[in-house]
Amino acid sequence: MITSIQNCEKIFTRFIGLLFIFLVSACELPPVDSEQQGYRGLGMENVVNPRTKAKVLAENISPDPSPPVSSEGPKADEIYENVKLLNDLSIGEFTRLMASMTQWVSPEQGCNYCHVPGNFASEDIYTKQVARKMIEMTRKANSAWQAHMGETGVTCYTCHRGKPLPTAAWSTDPGPAHPSALKSTGQNTVSATVAYTSLPYDPLTTYLNNVNEIEVVAKTTLPTGKPGPSIVQTEATYGLMMHISDSLGVNCTHCHNSRSFFAWDQSPAARTNAWHAIRHVREINDEYINSIADILPATSKGVLGDPLKVNCNTCHRGLNKPLQGVSMLSSYPSLSGDKSGTE
Ligand code: HEC
Ligand code: HEC
Ligand code: HEC
Ligand code: HEC
Repeated sequence: MITSIQNCEKIFTRFIGLLFIFLVSACELPPVDSEQQGYRGLGMENVVNPRTKAKVLAENISPDPSPPVSSEGPKADEIYENVKLLNDLSIGEFTRLMASMTQWVSPEQGCNYCHVPGNFASEDIYTKQVARKMIEMTRKANSAWQAHMGETGVTCYTCHRGKPLPTAAWSTDPGPAHPSALKSTGQNTVSATVAYTSLPYDPLTTYLNNVNEIEVVAKTTLPTGKPGPSIVQTEATYGLMMHISDSLGVNCTHCHNSRSFFAWDQSPAARTNAWHAIRHVREINDEYINSIADILPATSKGVLGDPLKVNCNTCHRGLNKPLQGVSMLSSYPSLSGDKSGTE
């Protein structure tokens, strides 16, 4: 009897010991690096987990540009029938761009993803019309949005990553099938969009498709009788900020001085890039994607029937400089908007 109690005790102590070791080891934080970004004492730090960072870097490698070809000889619009944008490319340059577009957007499907087999001039396939709109959108990004992207710019690959539908595109989230027992506004609904925080699950429709004020702090010191930012707006603003931080792989302090999230004169310069980025993304969604919703098939749309749109993660994918800051524009000047044919 006594021995069995002793045995029990031993087993119990061992179990507690093991549980303790398990808990302690499971709770141990991975070693993280932190970079000081502002003056000392302000806590302006960016905390990076080197293992996550290494994984993200490995997933964000820009393909090599194709070797350059001659710009001599007849131009595309002298030879082909239905060229509306890429008119002033030589036949060599035109073919090289088509091959690169295939590599960036539809490497498995090939040229026929955008062309009626045997008839390159035909317009009877929606993907060709979409691709033309996409060329215009890419040129606009590269010529008019330096305030967001500097001189780096984008190609089709920045968003598409070798897939006809960019994997990091989004559509309006219908929310939980059943109203949440906890809160009907959708809070406490787990959503990757807001980095699994308990914030409204779809700030993207509110701010990157529709234009609403992104604000938390009232604009005047004293009450004016007019209502300031509502709680709903505040929560949605934080939701969008979580999306932005998560997409760029940075902490809030990359763009804000945490002593005043509001004050622009105390914010790091990246916040200005981000301000322009928000307007840029709204323009992409409004002028280049929603505007062609009619020609897109249901398979290229979300559950509520809206087309797949762009957010910060579509290009950034966990890095503040998409594809590690590699620019392919000098190798593809026809996408830069300088050599823009009839545009
Ligand atoms: C992602 C869509 C897409 C893919 C993939 C694609 N093309 Fe195109 N192609 C276009 C668009 C858009 C145009 C029209 C360009 C313009 O209006 O300036 C075009 C036009 C052409 C034309 C001119 C036809 C004419 O007579 O007007 C040829 C030739 C052509 N493509 C060849 C190819 C070849 C070869 C491939 C595969 C290596 C290819 N394309 C892959 C979108 C695509
Ligand atoms: C800013 C990001 C972005 C860039 C840059 C971009 N695309 Fe897209 N593209 C999208 C998104 C998002 C969709 C999804 C729209 C939909 O189909 O609902 C899309 C859809 C398409 C489709 C239609 C796919 C389908 O089957 O519905 C084609 C074709 C295409 N893009 C070609 C291109 C080409 C060619 C380029 C470069 C000249 C390009 N894209 C550049 C974001 C981008
Ligand atoms: C990549 C830059 C960037 C990051 C990272 C970022 N923000 Fe912002 N934040 C902005 C910009 C830009 C605005 C202003 C948006 C506008 O007015 O269009 C803003 C606005 C805000 C506001 C509203 C201030 C006001 O005017 O009322 C708050 C609060 C805020 N951010 C909090 C955060 C928090 C918390 C985080 C981290 C989870 C964060 N931000 C991460 C760029 C960023
Ligand atoms: C069409 C692709 C694309 C989209 C979509 C996009 N970005 Fe960018 N962004 C870029 C490129 C390219 C750069 C240039 C990076 C470099 O310098 O190499 C950039 C640069 C930036 C920078 C400056 C780099 C830094 O950290 O100092 C910020 C901040 C930024 N983007 C924020 C955003 C935010 C916020 C969104 C969403 C509202 C967004 N971007 C959406 C392509 C994109």
